[in-house]
Amino acid sequence: MKLLYEGKAKKIYETDNPNEVICEFKDSLTAFNGEKADKEEGKGALNCAITTIIFEALQKEGIPTHLIKQIDETKQLVKKVEIIPIEVVVRNIAAGSLSRRLGLKEGKKLPFTIVEFYYKNDDLNDPLINDDHAMILNLVEKREELDKLREYGLKINDFLVKFFDKIGLILVDFKVEFGKDKDGNIILADEITPDSCRLWDKKTGKKMDKDLFRFDLGDIKEAYTEILNRLKG
Ligand code: C5P
Repeated sequence: MKLLYEGKAKKIYETDNPNEVICEFKDSLTAFNGEKADKEEGKGALNCAITTIIFEALQKEGIPTHLIKQIDETKQLVKKVEIIPIEVVVRNIAAGSLSRRLGLKEGKKLPFTIVEFYYKNDDLNDPLINDDHAMILNLVEKREELDKLREYGLKINDFLVKFFDKIGLILVDFKVEFGKDKDGNIILADEITPDSCRLWDKKTGKKMDKDLFRFDLGDIKEAYTEILNRLKG
């Protein structure tokens, strides 16, 4: 398989079909724009399985995703897309950079769900941007595409808040990425995993996501395995 791209968490390989690629989830763990890095054997498989379950559920809800099917423990066959270099972050509860930036106490429920855009650019440290910034950087062609990203972000949130609540988890916030398929449709790509979400246990308040690694708070493999087991029911 010819490697087309390797990022911090994934490898993308070519297939015989020009409209499809293989996405492999790596075991690597990075935080703070790669400043902190480690490896956790089996994490790729956990995140691949978690993303497959969530993307299949979202697909059924009418949210288009790049997922075609999972092909082995760590790999998915996906539609080839051109990734829109915007990280769409949706927040229900204050935490992380929102708490730091605005001085909001971690855990404070926000009066309404907020959506933020970050420019996906390692050299610039993924800065927070607004619609005007996205337009002058040509990150999308039309402003309506930014509205679409917000609309999908909120729709995904509505679904996932309930989805995780049913398995005893609070969805604090998450990041999603979108791409354009060969016909120019905007579809959900990348992953939805405990690496890209903040998930707190409803009963104990315990963190069950990448903050465990970011701040050395506990074993991520145990937490991610617990999430996968709950998702499987
Ligand atoms: O760090 P911050 O509070 O802005 O992160 C918001 C959410 O987006 C968190 O769930 C975090 O895991 C996710 N995120 C991500 N990748 C990034 C930045 C944030 O998955 N590069």
